[in-house]
Amino acid sequence: MLPNVLPRSASDHVPVLAEEVRELLAVQPGENVVDATFGAGGHSQLLADDLRGDGKLIAIDRDASAKSYFDRFKAQHRLAGEGLHSRFLRGEFSLVLSQLAANDVQADAILLDLGVSSMQLDRPERGFSYAADAPLDMRMDTAAELSARELVNDADERELALIFKRFGEERYARQIARAIVRRREERPFERTGDLSDTIKQAIPTPARFGDGHPAKRVFQALRIAVNDELGALEAALPAAVRMLRPGGRIAVISFHSLEDRIVKQFVREQARGCTCPPEFPICTCGNEPVLRDLTRKPVRPGQRELEANPRAASAKLRAATKVSS
Ligand SMILES: C[S@@+](CC[C@H](N)C(=O)[O-])C[C@H]1O[C@@H](n2cnc3c(N)ncnc32)[C@H](O)[C@@H]1O
Repeated sequence: MLPNVLPRSASDHVPVLAEEVRELLAVQPGENVVDATFGAGGHSQLLADDLRGDGKLIAIDRDASAKSYFDRFKAQHRLAGEGLHSRFLRGEFSLVLSQLAANDVQADAILLDLGVSSMQLDRPERGFSYAADAPLDMRMDTAAELSARELVNDADERELALIFKRFGEERYARQIARAIVRRREERPFERTGDLSDTIKQAIPTPARFGDGHPAKRVFQALRIAVNDELGALEAALPAAVRMLRPGGRIAVISFHSLEDRIVKQFVREQARGCTCPPEFPICTCGNEPVLRDLTRKPVRPGQRELEANPRAASAKLRAATKVSS
């Protein structure tokens, strides 16, 4: 078995809820594993340990920079003389999973660790962070058409306010949207610093202090909108389940209450089977449960993990197993 060999740099991503994911996915040698959010490969490394050099691992990420981490991952396993077959597929996970399912590729374990990686957040030039002044971008896939720059400069005031409210739960969504529209009439937003300053000025002075950086929620909201993170998740879950073999497991780590709600409702529906109205005396739909819930309540990081990795704070893990095809 290969130990956790990938060398880490200070800004590398620390895999969240790693042991819990491992336990729930319970990967066995010889299985097919899909890491749909490869990032720096932290979770893949642990799942590969569980494959003990025998099995297949498909790594997916829409960020081209994940490929260099994958190349390193592959090289380490090759050096260790293992028979692990791994490949990297660059793309949006709902599309890649749908294509794999359409091509009858089957999986025993699928992981989705949602959101951004530390490498994305910590590289100012990617424009995800309010903490550094950089071009306003926030695209996970740098070839995608819509960046935060277009969204902030082109969306109308109502749409911006809705995005800030819905995806960021920002209390001052309307005031911030109004300030953005007013400011961009003079000159368009180009940099994260400009945007961050405008947000700060738009909110009442007492609200600028406490509860994190004043631009935190708006930046999160823009990132979710730019990358259509909720739409991708909604489309990915059924595709992932189509790929799973009976007995296969799926685990999803989310960082936003809307993501967790999507996962929770999906698992609940798939585990219920029958979709007849409750007043029907007998079942007429004949639908069988497809999933069995493995986590009635979401699994949260423990104190030790939170101390070591504050970025795990909002993580919630849910998992399910496929009971029929
Ligand atoms: C939280 S990081 C994953 C970190 C990884 N588990 C690790 O331990 O290194 C999320 C990764 O998923 C990718 N990602 C997010 N949404 C995606 C989507 N819809 N399709 C493909 N990749 C996505 C991001 O680019 C990022 O690299």
